[in-house]
Amino acid sequence: MTTESGELRRTLAPASIPLVNRLLSPDDSSRRLAALAGAPRIALDSRQQADVHCIAVGAFSPLTGFVGSADHESVCATMRLADGSVWPMPVVLAVDEQTAGARGAGDEVVLVGTDGEPLALMTISESFTVDLTAEVERCFGTSDPAHPGVAARVAQGKFALGGDVEALRIPASAFPDYDLSPAQTRARFAELGWRTVVGFQTRNPVHRAHEYLHKVALETIDGLFLQPLVGDTKGDDISAATRMRCYEVLLDGYYPKDRVVLGTFPAAMRYAGPREAVLHSIVRRNYGCTHFIVGRDHAGVGSYYGTYDAQRVFDSIDPTALGIQILPFEHTFWCHRCEGMASTRTCPHPDDDHLALSGTRVRAMLLAGEMPPPEFSRPEVAAILIESAREGLEAAAGKR
Ligand code: ADX
Repeated sequence: MTTESGELRRTLAPASIPLVNRLLSPDDSSRRLAALAGAPRIALDSRQQADVHCIAVGAFSPLTGFVGSADHESVCATMRLADGSVWPMPVVLAVDEQTAGARGAGDEVVLVGTDGEPLALMTISESFTVDLTAEVERCFGTSDPAHPGVAARVAQGKFALGGDVEALRIPASAFPDYDLSPAQTRARFAELGWRTVVGFQTRNPVHRAHEYLHKVALETIDGLFLQPLVGDTKGDDISAATRMRCYEVLLDGYYPKDRVVLGTFPAAMRYAGPREAVLHSIVRRNYGCTHFIVGRDHAGVGSYYGTYDAQRVFDSIDPTALGIQILPFEHTFWCHRCEGMASTRTCPHPDDDHLALSGTRVRAMLLAGEMPPPEFSRPEVAAILIESAREGLEAAAGKR
């Protein structure tokens, strides 16, 4: 390995970063739940349920629960928890006004999952109100209700409960084979003998630019942890099930099996660009990665963020405090003259030589049953996307 990764091994040791575990054993779960049989219940939405999952397994370490007002203010203003650890987005349990008014410090409540069954217990430390406009402006850089992350957060409202969470169980996964906890991935990476691991966050179907980033990284890093986000996304994003199938065929045909682990990331997408890139990097550190890929417009949506804002945000964060090293990538594309993937760092040719396909154009092609060029998407992947688009059209026609 290179000197750089040798140095990183000494300075960054994610396996030594303490993992929070807020998942009760089955025995403790039954006992604690029975003791709280008459306790008030709060129904979680799918985003909050995903947050409980991330807290329970330590994906959100060092968080042990939903933030209180001191952490909320500190995170929004400084991207740090009140204790000084880097943390970019407040993980808020928003509730309605009546629930907020009825609950106070020391109360124990049962958090109910989206399946109607108890999911977790929470010991409330505080009931508080946030300045929602200030929160979204700081965290998302906008309060525009057209921004999907802002809209989702604003819909939850300004009343919040802070406090530690103890999960009774992990929510059922649609991808049980891939639902690996941070403790499991750390153990897997160690078993595989990987000393450096690069994490990859994604919410879109895998395309050639993604594959290029993975493989460039694999040239110098021991292993690749592909972790598609499978929580809530905005309505027009491709379903997690389709994206996972795309990964399966791609890995089968084009990746060295012993150098890749595929796992799901249970969180919801916030579309917060720079701040979410920081969150994504901390989470991958917790899963045991030493490196994290941040490409162009990471976690962005529309034109709310500059192409490289999600890379620049790391300039003000000490990598040792973060515990993971960022691998920044320029916008990459297929160049007809280079006959390969490239970026402006490696390709001298003008834009005309580059394959440029907008997301809208690709979606239209898939809906029309047309294969995007193989330089954009592997044919095996495109076939799955076309089939899924056809199924979507049929389902929509069936509903009419
Ligand atoms: S994201 O919302 O999860 O960031 P996406 O799945 O499209 O969306 O991207 C996953 C990662 O690949 C992000 O780090 C993103 O910046 C990067 N990426 C996607 N496409 C490109 C590209 N053409 N060039 C460089 N980086 C890219």
